[in-house]
Amino acid sequence: MNMISSNTAKYLALEDQYGAHNYHPIPVVLNKGEGVYLWDVDGKKYIDFLSGYSAVNQGHCHPKIINTLIEQAQKLTLTSRAFHNNLLGEYEQFITSYFGYQKVLPMNTGVEGGETAIKLARRWAYTQKGIEENKAKVIFAEGNFWGRTLAAISSSTDPSSYHQFGPFMPGFELVPYNDTIALEKAFQDKNVCAFMVEPIQGEAGVVIPDEGYLQKVRALCTEYNVLFIADEIQTGLARTGKMLACDHEHVRPDILILGKALSGGVLPISAVLADDYIMMNIKPGEHGSTYGGNPLACAVAISALTVLKEEHMAENANSMGQLLRDELAKLHSPFIKTIRGKGLLNAIVINHPNPEAAWDFCLILKEKGLLAKPTHGDKIRFAPPLLITKEQIIESVQKIEAALQELNQVT
Ligand SMILES: Cc1ncc(COP(=O)(O)O)c(C=O)c1O
Repeated sequence: MNMISSNTAKYLALEDQYGAHNYHPIPVVLNKGEGVYLWDVDGKKYIDFLSGYSAVNQGHCHPKIINTLIEQAQKLTLTSRAFHNNLLGEYEQFITSYFGYQKVLPMNTGVEGGETAIKLARRWAYTQKGIEENKAKVIFAEGNFWGRTLAAISSSTDPSSYHQFGPFMPGFELVPYNDTIALEKAFQDKNVCAFMVEPIQGEAGVVIPDEGYLQKVRALCTEYNVLFIADEIQTGLARTGKMLACDHEHVRPDILILGKALSGGVLPISAVLADDYIMMNIKPGEHGSTYGGNPLACAVAISALTVLKEEHMAENANSMGQLLRDELAKLHSPFIKTIRGKGLLNAIVINHPNPEAAWDFCLILKEKGLLAKPTHGDKIRFAPPLLITKEQIIESVQKIEAALQELNQVT
């Protein structure tokens, strides 16, 4: 089932010997990408159903984004924030008007965006809300995932994130996801300054809350003077069929965190957006990053955001996502327990007595020419680049169907 060429094996052995074993990848070694396609070192072509965890929404090596990257890289890449650069202001104006916020704070990785949002919320708590210093609390939802820093794992309910990495960050509390009664109860504590939440929980296995959840969260945050922080790092930027997943419920978070596809998969770019009453509490020297706001990132992010709108990627994600779920449902496979998703952020839950079946299934999919990976145990995310066509969706479902038949034989 899992065929590995000697050429591929050579690359796997190198990583195995010299790299930390902090990931468990599908055994495929890729060296080329274009649009929805990837190629491995043996020249085999695949449809990408992961999109670099939704960083490659615009498709691999999008020509417009890559041209921007090359042109800017030949002029100026990094000045640090010790000096100004000619693109930062233009980018800040562009992204704040794109999303309707007064200010942006540029960072690099998604997890840094999360850290930034929490620092902003804590500072707001002490300078604006009047919470006594060092007493501020941030609420998170169980099942959240926002990265691997010590703060991020301190809010995690997944032992593989936090086990034997303590002690943990104080001032974090958890409520069940999709439970506004528990949230309101938590808000009774006057020291709560923020609720940080994913509009759809991605890593937890594409967990979609009930309709109205985000609206209720918004209303509770307003009522209790708590900042609503939306982690749209995975759900944002057209992935779920709207520019932001919060747009499905017409809610505006107080702090918006973006990352991943903000660069179209080209380099790490994240952004935290908020209005002045939150952002202006941070003064020079109190937060930053060497690479945050570098001119290369500014140029690439403008290009990546422009491509999303120019190519109507939210609309395509919406219709292609519906088609994908409809076609998967038509398979009536006994091995698929659940099909869920919004736009092109989808997951299936595998129904199989073998607990390794989701992993085995992804290995078979690889042989059929489709790349996907389990999120947690029995759940597999299906999240292709947003420029996928109807024909490519049909072809993908045929590969999935063939793989399901094989799953029958091997287990
Ligand atoms: C919702 C969410 N937030 C934050 C992150 C962290 O982003 P990064 O890996 O760029 O630090 C992720 C990564 O998967 C994510 O899915």
